[in-house]
This record gives sequence, C-alpha cells and structure tokens, in this order.
Amino acid sequence: MKVTVVGAGNVGATCAHAIAEKELVNEVILLDIKEGLAEGKALDMWQTAPIQSFDTRLRGVSNDYAASAGSEVVVITSGVPRKPGMSRDDLISINAGIVKSVTENIVRYSPDAKIIIVSNPLDAMCYRAYLTAGFPSSRVFGMAGILDAARYTAFLADELNISPKDILSVLLGGHGDTMVPLPRYTTVAGIPVTQLIDSQRLEAIIERTRVGGGELVKLMGTSAWYAPGNAAARMVEAIIRDQRRVVPVCAYLDGEYGMKNIYLGVPVILGKNGVEKIIEIHLNAEEQELLARSAEAVKTVLDAIVP
Ligand code: NAI
Ligand code: 2OP
Repeated sequence: MKVTVVGAGNVGATCAHAIAEKELVNEVILLDIKEGLAEGKALDMWQTAPIQSFDTRLRGVSNDYAASAGSEVVVITSGVPRKPGMSRDDLISINAGIVKSVTENIVRYSPDAKIIIVSNPLDAMCYRAYLTAGFPSSRVFGMAGILDAARYTAFLADELNISPKDILSVLLGGHGDTMVPLPRYTTVAGIPVTQLIDSQRLEAIIERTRVGGGELVKLMGTSAWYAPGNAAARMVEAIIRDQRRVVPVCAYLDGEYGMKNIYLGVPVILGKNGVEKIIEIHLNAEEQELLARSAEAVKTVLDAIVP
C-alpha cells in the first residue's frame, strides 16, 4: 500500500517521516517540483529507518506522478507558506494554481485516492481541489482542526499544569483567526474546562489559539511544520487503519450546520472511505453566531476562486 505526499518542504517532509515512523504503509512517495529536493529528503529520512526502527520505504521524486500511481491517500502540502505580515488568505493566487495542477495529476494516477489538503488558505484550497478532482466530497478534505485543537490543548495543558493526554478539545470553523474553539464541549478527563479555568483566562487562551499560526510565523519567519505535519499524518493513520476516529476536519457541508456549498472545519468520523460522517453538535446562539462569522470569512476567500 502506498501514500504520496506532494510538497517536500517543511510540512510535507515532516508528514512523510511521521507516516513512515508509524509504518502505516509499505511505501511513501515524496514529490516536489524542485529537482532533487524530494529525493534528498526521502534518502535522509530513509537513513533514519535503522535508528528509528521502521521499514516503510521512502522514495523521493521530482514531479514524476507516475511514481505516485495507485496511492491510497495523497496529502497536498505544495505551495508557498506565510511570511511575517501575511495572512493565510494572501497566499490564494499562487496556491490555487498549484493545488489545481497537482490535483489534476493525482486524479490521473490515483483515481481512487482520498485527498488531504494542507496548503493554505486551507478551506478555499479544499474547495479548489474538490472542483478539480470531481471526486465525491467524502474523498477530498483538509487538515486544520487537528492542528488548531492541538494548539488549544497545549495551551490548556500549560495553564493547568497537567498532561495534554487528559484534555479533549472541541473546535469548529475555518482555519483562520475566526476559528471557533468551544470551551463548553472541551473537557479535562470528563470535567468541563469551564469549571477549571476562569472565563477571562479561558478567553485569553482561546484568543491565543485563534492566532496560534501567526505567533509561530512571527517567531520563525515562516509557518509551523512539526504539529501540522504530524496532524496530517494522524489523518492518514485514521484512514489507512480504518480507525473511525472522531476528529475535526475541513469537510464539504451540504446542509449540515445549516450551510451548503462550503468547506468548513467540523467534527467527522474519519475512516477508510475518508469522511464517513459529519457529526452535528448542538450550538447555542453565541456559538452559532461565531460559526456563521467564520463561514462568512471563508466565503470571502472562496469568492476569489469560485465566482
Ligand atoms: P515549504 O515552502 O517549506 O514547502 C512547500 C513545498 O512545495 C516546496 O518544497 C515547493 O518546492 C513545493 N512546491 C511548490 N509548487 C509545487 C508544485 N506545483 N508541485 C509540487 N511541489 C511544489 O512550505 P511549508 O511550510 O511546507 O507549507 C506548505 C503549505 O502548507 C503552505 O501553503 C502553508 O501555508 C500550508 N500550511 C497549512 C497548515 C494547515 O493547518 N492547513 C499548517 C502549516 C502550513
Ligand atoms: C498554521 O496554522 C500557517 O496554517 C498555518 O500554522
């Protein structure tokens, strides 16, 4: 069984390595447009196999989609990342073209694949790939919610000085500053987090989560990759192992949450067919309003690619 990761940059290489370390498949193809880059990174990662003790083969290729043929899952990370002062939305014109051409190649060589988009602006890039692929929406979706929820969880774990393993964070909406962390549904070993942290501190943590990507861009001069790459690998794992994990995924809404014709972060069951089911949770008036605002922000970006 094979998985392909397109884009051998920071996120793509991290994701490919995580997939290999988990031994999810026999072979991981790493593909990049830049001559030699994917070959070099795949070779370097393969040389960690004796140290890390895995046997999944890693093969790097330069724009050779034939090598990706028959992939079970394809992760698209190709595109340009944010630089300081840029929003995810500033990337749209370059990345929409890249995602379109990459998707055309994937469809040609892996017509049965599940496609996970990582390139930003995430929600709009999912739509671009969906329109290009012509696949059912259950097989085209995006990674953001696992990352955003992980950031929220990490901040909560710091605040409470407890293990992140005991925190279950719930978060909805677009992958942008309007994302909607839901403290009402967030628990610490089953205890609502609202009972453990006062509302002012909680609001500050939520705000830090919303701009969590930007905090890292300011620190590093480019966007993050360890958590994003591992989050995408987690999604690959749920699909390959048919785990039916309940995770936030950027999925196509066709009436769910009262919305149509939009990609937005929602909890789904993720299994061997991709998005097996979208889970609709009850939202109060304030949460509904926040989600509607997030959807509006996503639609503004979408209008640039879907007139
Ligand atoms: P990077 O610049 O390190 O890597 C991008 C790679 O894509 C480069 O190696 C480049 O040569 C390659 N590439 C460009 N055009 C290509 C094409 N047509 N075919 C194949 N490869 C191509 O960037 P990084 O940090 O890995 O980020 C990748 C994307 O992921 C960015 O758009 C970034 O904004 C996004 N991102 C999304 C996250 C999310 O939560 N959804 C989180 C972090 C990053
Ligand atoms: C992140 O959230 C920039 O989307 C990227 O790190």
